[in-house]
Amino acid sequence: MIRINENYTKLKASYLFSDIAKRVSAYVAANPSKAVIRLGIGDVTEPLPPVCVEAMHAATDEMAKRATFKGYGPEQGYAFLREAIAQHDYTARGCKIEADEIFVSDGSKCDCGNIQEIFAQDIRLAIPDPVYPVYLDTNVMAGRTGGNVDGRYEGVTYLDSTPANGYVPAIPSVATDLIYLCFPNNPTGAVATRAQLTAWVEYARKNKAVILFDSAYEAYIRNPDIPHSIYEIEGARDVAIEFRSFSKTAGFTGTRCAYTVVPKSVVAYDNAGNAHPLHALWNRRHTTKFNGVAYPIQKAAAAIFTDAGKQQTKALTDFYLANAKLIREAVNQLGFTCIGGDNAPYIWINTGRDSWEFFDTLLNQAQVVCTPGAGFGKCGEGHVRISAFNSRENVETALARIAKALK
Ligand code: MLT
Repeated sequence: MIRINENYTKLKASYLFSDIAKRVSAYVAANPSKAVIRLGIGDVTEPLPPVCVEAMHAATDEMAKRATFKGYGPEQGYAFLREAIAQHDYTARGCKIEADEIFVSDGSKCDCGNIQEIFAQDIRLAIPDPVYPVYLDTNVMAGRTGGNVDGRYEGVTYLDSTPANGYVPAIPSVATDLIYLCFPNNPTGAVATRAQLTAWVEYARKNKAVILFDSAYEAYIRNPDIPHSIYEIEGARDVAIEFRSFSKTAGFTGTRCAYTVVPKSVVAYDNAGNAHPLHALWNRRHTTKFNGVAYPIQKAAAAIFTDAGKQQTKALTDFYLANAKLIREAVNQLGFTCIGGDNAPYIWINTGRDSWEFFDTLLNQAQVVCTPGAGFGKCGEGHVRISAFNSRENVETALARIAKALK
């Protein structure tokens, strides 16, 4: 008799953003005349930078001719893209990352979700709360947690991010083996200082642990003192894997391109205590289960590293950050405290109210979609996340509607 992976029964019925999408669709079906503005899921709205479009067109033309046509590419990504990433995202910031330590993929969501399979079943997890649900859910699916008791999975060390710690979790007092960190943070928009990241790297080194560092939103950092990469921290090359994406940097949410950095010096241990480079394991996994990102997409991604590409992506992230500033100001005027939005495209609002109820209020009375904080974890209760990804006109309209609804 075929049987299911019973770990799936421990999960909430549906993924957070699918759940929200279902509720919004039901509202739209019942209220067809009301125009809903979506500031929930962090999905970009502005078109791709012109350099990316030009590069994609040129690459498509290459695919149209026998002489330049390409079939399967290298699973890890074409050298032109891996070399550009190593040079512009790492060497330029003083980080020692080689092109062959970069694995190009079709998204950080997939990489963050898939990476856990190269680790043992019985490792100890440290996961932030609130958190991007992928980190937690994929470990639940893999059977690394117990059941969900009062909104928390047994066996996980939760890293609480609360108003009391400025939404940057403290180092746990217990040893853990696999630590998920995301800065600039999704969902809170909080950033970590060099000193805070240094403490995490020291903790990981002391405990022979590995940090999974999600820096999908690094392009939004404007404070020059905030590190963009975990590899700006000394010693991180031995204990950290980093995830980056072109989605929020250059509008690739629909186009799909991202990368994961696995330095050859990061190791994990077998039962006998022998060290194994994770680079070899991830390479094995990647080449077995993935066949590479489409050539025109990789060409488009590489174009962002040209001078024009850098200017155009900066203009794009500046545009969303200007939306974020408007949202922050409006939220403060309504009397709420919030963080994020200055070095991140998300604004995390401390509403002090039940977060799904607040979500329903905004949807029903302002036709604005936000993300309820409770969907990101227990510490998210009392908060909602507003995304700055939308047109200026929609953001302004949404803010006026929210002000009217809450007054
Ligand atoms: C979010 O809204 O948290 C993100 O868009 C989700 C993602 O990047 O997968």
